[in-house]
Amino acid sequence: MYSFTQRTRCCRWLFATSIGIGILAGCASLELHEDNDEIRASTNPDLIARGRHLVHGPGHCAYCHGNPDRDAEMRAGQEIPLSGGRVFDLGLLGSLVAPNITSEPVSGIGNLSDGTLVRSLRYGVSRDGRPLAPFMAFADLTDRDLQAIISFLRTLPPVPADDQHDLSPLGALAVRVLLRPQMPTSPLRADMEPEPTAEYGRYLAHTVANCNGCHTRRSKLTGAFVGSPLGGGMVMEADSGSFVVPDITPGGGLLDHLTQSGFVGLFRAKGRVAIESPMPWSAFSRMSDTELKAIFAYLRTLPPAQNVAGGSHTPEQSGETQMVRRRAPDPSADQHASN
Ligand code: HEC
Ligand code: HEC
Repeated sequence: MYSFTQRTRCCRWLFATSIGIGILAGCASLELHEDNDEIRASTNPDLIARGRHLVHGPGHCAYCHGNPDRDAEMRAGQEIPLSGGRVFDLGLLGSLVAPNITSEPVSGIGNLSDGTLVRSLRYGVSRDGRPLAPFMAFADLTDRDLQAIISFLRTLPPVPADDQHDLSPLGALAVRVLLRPQMPTSPLRADMEPEPTAEYGRYLAHTVANCNGCHTRRSKLTGAFVGSPLGGGMVMEADSGSFVVPDITPGGGLLDHLTQSGFVGLFRAKGRVAIESPMPWSAFSRMSDTELKAIFAYLRTLPPAQNVAGGSHTPEQSGETQMVRRRAPDPSADQHASN
């Protein structure tokens, strides 16, 4: 059974690129984003249900924030606790851990204000006011989806965890000095109705589900997107081997052979088989037909990619993030370092 264990490196490029992204975003300013006062968690059941769908479906939070010891259950389609612990090894910089986002008050988000959570997701600022390493692409979430997500997070039962970032002095300096918070790239939207349109598909592919983050080639130096949008070509390595992220634009082969219903069927089928891939198939198979049709419609509008997916691109061997298993469970898990 596949798991993101010791040698899995599928996400190592993420941090390798993050420093560059930070430099590129250099004009953003932390002071601009004090706690957001407008979006508040709600107990409205419809909103919570929407949040659950986004978190365990297209948003695939569990692929990073889920307890890595329960990876196999997640891939088999279960909702696992979002108690964090997945470690991203950054080489010389040390390591970052995906934090506990259950309602546990000390290691989790139980004591964080709604505004602090909104600021994390929309502006990439951590609870303690530093820029978050850019693993997430939620800056352009609509107000309603952001509200739905934090409303659902509030319902997660507390699960203690004691994983901490373990940055080297160089890494600590890098995250403080080089990273910058992110900014929404388009005017903020209050809401978007799920519809099988290319516009909604674009929102899913670039923001909620971040297809773009894996399917568009990025410069390892600067983090900038350098490949044709959704044109594939990145190489991701996992225990089960090395994966070339495919071109999913028209003309790339894959999309040309699929009808809309074939595309929906592919996600349903791959979600069922706990597939050994960096792509979060089990989460994505929870997407509705409307959502998948929207993504298909959006992909059809893309210009054919210029790059040849998988061509001569080879993964670099150093300085990239490795996704490794969480540290062995610690029997004194409830003795947290102070927050
Ligand atoms: C690709 C991996 C990945 C995905 C997917 C992901 N996260 Fe994160 N998230 C991280 C990492 C890594 C950090 C810590 C980064 C840092 O500390 O610089 C983080 C930080 C956070 C924080 C900030 C916590 C704090 O202490 O300030 C929140 C809140 C959060 N994530 C919520 C979510 C939610 C909700 C989702 C899904 C809708 C999600 N994340 C999806 C990797 C991910
Ligand atoms: C974390 C990285 C990642 C994300 C996010 C991601 N993909 Fe992928 N995708 C991959 C990799 C790696 C492969 C090749 C391995 C495989 O087929 O599972 C792939 C394969 C595919 C395939 C080909 C499947 C086949 O049977 O040949 C399609 C279609 C696809 N992705 C669409 C999408 C869409 C649409 C999204 C967003 C909703 C998305 N991907 C998000 C990494 C990702």
